[in-house]
Amino acid sequence: MHDKKKILVTAALPYANGPLHLGHLAGAYLTPDLYCRFKRLKGDDVVFICGSDEHGVPITIAAEKEGVNPQDIVDRYHEMNKSAFDQFGISFDYYGRTSSKVHRETSQEIFTTLYNKGFFKKKTEKQLYDAKKDMFLPDRYVKGTCPNCDFEEAYGDQCENCGTSLSPTELINPVSALSGEKPEVKETEHWYMPLGDIQPKFEEWLNTREGWKPNVLGQVKSWLQDGLADRAATRDLSWGVPVPLDEAEGKVLYVWFDAPIGYISATKEWATEQGKPEVWKDYWQNEECELYHFIGKDNIVFHCIMFPIMLMEHGDYVLPKNVPANEFLNLEGKKLSTSRGWAVWLHEYLEDFEPDLLRYALGTTLPESKDSDFSWKDFQARVNNELAAVLGNFVFRALSFTGKFAEGKVPELIDPSETDLEALKAIQTQKDKVSAAYDAFKFKEAIQESLNLARVGNKYFTETEPWKTRKDNPQACNNTLYVSNQICAALSVLMEPVLPDSMKKLRAQLGMNNEISWDQISDAMIPSGTDVNAGEVLFTKVEDDQIEAQIRRLEERAAANDPASNYPPLKDNIEFGDFMNLDLRAGEILASERIPKSDKLLKLHVDIGIETRTIVSGIAKHVDESTVVGQKVCVVANLSPKKLMGVESKGMILMAEDSEGNLKFVETEAENGSSIS
Ligand code: MF3
Ligand code: ZN
Repeated sequence: MHDKKKILVTAALPYANGPLHLGHLAGAYLTPDLYCRFKRLKGDDVVFICGSDEHGVPITIAAEKEGVNPQDIVDRYHEMNKSAFDQFGISFDYYGRTSSKVHRETSQEIFTTLYNKGFFKKKTEKQLYDAKKDMFLPDRYVKGTCPNCDFEEAYGDQCENCGTSLSPTELINPVSALSGEKPEVKETEHWYMPLGDIQPKFEEWLNTREGWKPNVLGQVKSWLQDGLADRAATRDLSWGVPVPLDEAEGKVLYVWFDAPIGYISATKEWATEQGKPEVWKDYWQNEECELYHFIGKDNIVFHCIMFPIMLMEHGDYVLPKNVPANEFLNLEGKKLSTSRGWAVWLHEYLEDFEPDLLRYALGTTLPESKDSDFSWKDFQARVNNELAAVLGNFVFRALSFTGKFAEGKVPELIDPSETDLEALKAIQTQKDKVSAAYDAFKFKEAIQESLNLARVGNKYFTETEPWKTRKDNPQACNNTLYVSNQICAALSVLMEPVLPDSMKKLRAQLGMNNEISWDQISDAMIPSGTDVNAGEVLFTKVEDDQIEAQIRRLEERAAANDPASNYPPLKDNIEFGDFMNLDLRAGEILASERIPKSDKLLKLHVDIGIETRTIVSGIAKHVDESTVVGQKVCVVANLSPKKLMGVESKGMILMAEDSEGNLKFVETEAENGSSIS
């Protein structure tokens, strides 16, 4: 037996600004759940913490898009995400939220302590400002071109294409995400964390860490190599934790300052819920406690550098023992994108399949050390060829055979053969391999090695041929069934972390109770004479049409979200002569007036070089009337005249319709009268 260790596991708090998808699960939630379930089975004292990240620009932008309050957004998605995690069996001990009172107080306390220690540097600085909206534009309120990779949709805090962390003023061609305007630059005051000053001390600490994944260390080292820069801990925003300083009226804590503190506040709330309000200190303020942050790679700098420095300088808290970050999961060979509809939402998945199937499929394709890909075909193959054909099949063979030919009771093992003993030995071998893999955060390996025990079982069952020995050597048949039942029992614990629902069913078939432990895994788990019964099949095969339906849904949604799909289809070809029959001219609008009783039509006087025309155009809702005069345009000059609202219109102005249905002028630089062809 080993000592009961205190283990505090956190999973990145997801922004409560939208539903969760596969990428979330694979990035930051499945792996800590596997880890916690494994450690609980080992008998360790595990607390698993997560919750909603409810502050920051991602939330306020979502609220603005929908025209509701930020609180409405976070209330909706907090509940929705909490329930999705729950249905997938992500076994958090507590799911908090950063809009809670305990969180506000905890964040302010940590800020104040750091402030009193002289940690922050106050700076006056220039920031981007949206004059139209009368507000500063921190972080994601600015979009522009990434100076690192030229990606045009980079945010003011980070480029999602190359992962570089940015500040708004670094963006090329910045525009306000609120108004689309080019921002101004204005002065403001903020409190900075002097990460650079602490770098040497931080590096000393980092060198004491062991077993960090190369993908994580690589990123951390590269930040350190560039030299840590000061990072503002405050923002000019109204949504967030107010900065607890009189002189910081109207400012809030930077979301990446308060969010990780959410782990601490959620642990406090958990402790209170346990009826032991002080017990959170046994974890956060206990040098013996092992703290692990599970995150996706975009969160590495915050969890491996910034938060540890905050805690280190505060002085009262444990620092992480490891931060086993994952890389990204792609979907059907393409980058996941919620805005482009390229995602599988967890709540939608659950309408069609069991959670365990996805836990397994994702668990075996985790982006552990590099980006990986989820495809529905692979999902199907994993379920059919591994879960159903290997695990489910073995269990079913063993149990149904026991039911039919051993009266549904685990037989005695007498004079086992070499083959029997070897199969039994595999239980311990696989148990050790799986343990070691979990301890090393090698989750894919842990799952593969777990399944390998079922492979051993299948092979053994086939080789010992109980359907033959049953007639000519009944004890050999009994031995096969004894061994097979022990392997089933071992699997029911070994695979518990990844397949909690199915293994519970399996244990019911084996007459085992659910108070299980890792130490119990052995070659003699269920005594001879135990009643077993092959119940329902554990895994049914996923059919081709089910998979095709998923792929179709994905493609349809992507098409619906693709701006190009809103354009009308291309028309049939025409002959050159038909085109030349059009008389197109460059022109200029000289005057514009509204046509009474029409909110669509404008009466325009257009100079087309040779003459001035009156043209009635249905563009009143699409153009800014104050700038129409002087606008250069292209005109269809030989269109037969037509009366519109009592006004004769002689010609037509060319307009282009964009993906949102807005009409824009087709401009020309040519002088009036120029023939266009
Ligand atoms: N909400 C952040 C994200 O989705 C993660 C926050 S993790 C925390 O990227 F530690 F800061 F809470
Ligand atoms: Zn970039």
